[in-house]
Amino acid sequence: MSFPHSLPEPRLPDPTGGPALRWGILGTGWIAERFAASVLRHTNHQVVAVGSRSEEGAQRFTGRLGGEPLGSYAELVAHPRVDVVYVASPHPQHVEHALLAIAAGKHVLVEKPMAIDATGARRIAEAARAAGVLAMEAMWSLCLPKFRVLRRLLDDGVLGEPTMVSADIGEYFPDAHRIHDPALAGGAMMDLGTYPLTLATWVLGAPTEVAAQGVRGPTGTMAQTTMTLRHGDAQSALHASALVETPTVAAISGTDAWVSLDGPWYQPGSFTLHGRDGGQLRHLEAATAHDGLYWEALEVAHCLGEGRVESGIRPLDATIATLEAMDQVRAVTGDRLAGES
Ligand SMILES: NC(=O)c1ccc[n+]([C@@H]2O[C@H](COP(=O)([O-])OP(=O)(O)OC[C@H]3O[C@@H](n4cnc5c(N)ncnc54)[C@H](OP(=O)(O)O)[C@@H]3O)[C@@H](O)[C@H]2O)c1
Repeated sequence: MSFPHSLPEPRLPDPTGGPALRWGILGTGWIAERFAASVLRHTNHQVVAVGSRSEEGAQRFTGRLGGEPLGSYAELVAHPRVDVVYVASPHPQHVEHALLAIAAGKHVLVEKPMAIDATGARRIAEAARAAGVLAMEAMWSLCLPKFRVLRRLLDDGVLGEPTMVSADIGEYFPDAHRIHDPALAGGAMMDLGTYPLTLATWVLGAPTEVAAQGVRGPTGTMAQTTMTLRHGDAQSALHASALVETPTVAAISGTDAWVSLDGPWYQPGSFTLHGRDGGQLRHLEAATAHDGLYWEALEVAHCLGEGRVESGIRPLDATIATLEAMDQVRAVTGDRLAGES
């Protein structure tokens, strides 16, 4: 296909156009605070209730961001004004907490990874489908404007046949951080590796062959992993580290054109489309980090506004496929997690 004159416009939901969802926040940690702040800043949604394992935890959170403080998750999911529960507990608790909300008849947006393995994600998918409620993995990157432009470039064949994806993500975390805790499914894969694996499977589909190597960190978890995956005739080269900073850039190469994503590529930011003849088009997007979390809330509202209980951007089967790939990688590296099936 010939190199385009301009990039396609992303199809974006209107921040105030869908239903004004009433969120219940489950867990009051690092990401929950950023999610609530972003949603309150950019949408007409409300945070109506916040559930914590303790009264003090809930009050600390609502003191800053509002909402009714509740000292248990059971009270949160039973709250009559809550439409949708955002599950922001550590990874090994996602299944239990998502199932709790689904059993109470609530829609759920579950932090990534949806579960520590594909079996857990399948349990959430089955429960949500049986209850007729929405369940979506909070894979926020795919909801950002730049990934919507990329999807159109891929679907329109602008890149030709996608043949190679390379992506890394690396961030130093001190030894005491949750990410190194063996009891909380610590290591690089859950928090970080899920991003490059999502990108590779989003572009190239499920891997047909997996090779990987892992390095253990200070607490014995698999704190750094490199992966080379075959997807039919295409390949991906991915790595994730919780030990060191890396450029955190990504590239998608097709037979006609390729894309380089500025780092950190999984957050809001810009990318360049390169033609084989040297032509370039630049997608400009402000690098606003986690202030971009509201796009995933708008995707939930957009689906519910259309009467759909599954996201077209992050369908449940795609979440399960990413976790199946992660299960395969961890089997190769010997990255066993406490509590996995
Ligand atoms: N999208 C992103 O960019 C992004 C970034 C960071 C993290 N995440 C994801 O979000 C999830 C939470 O990460 P986080 O960094 O926010 O973690 P965090 O700061 O440790 O917060 C987790 C919260 O979960 C609750 N919790 C429930 N059971 C717990 C247990 N057994 N141990 C510890 N806390 C427990 C706690 O809230 P209460 O005490 O109030 O109950 C705690 O504050 C992870 O799955 C992670 O992958 C996503």
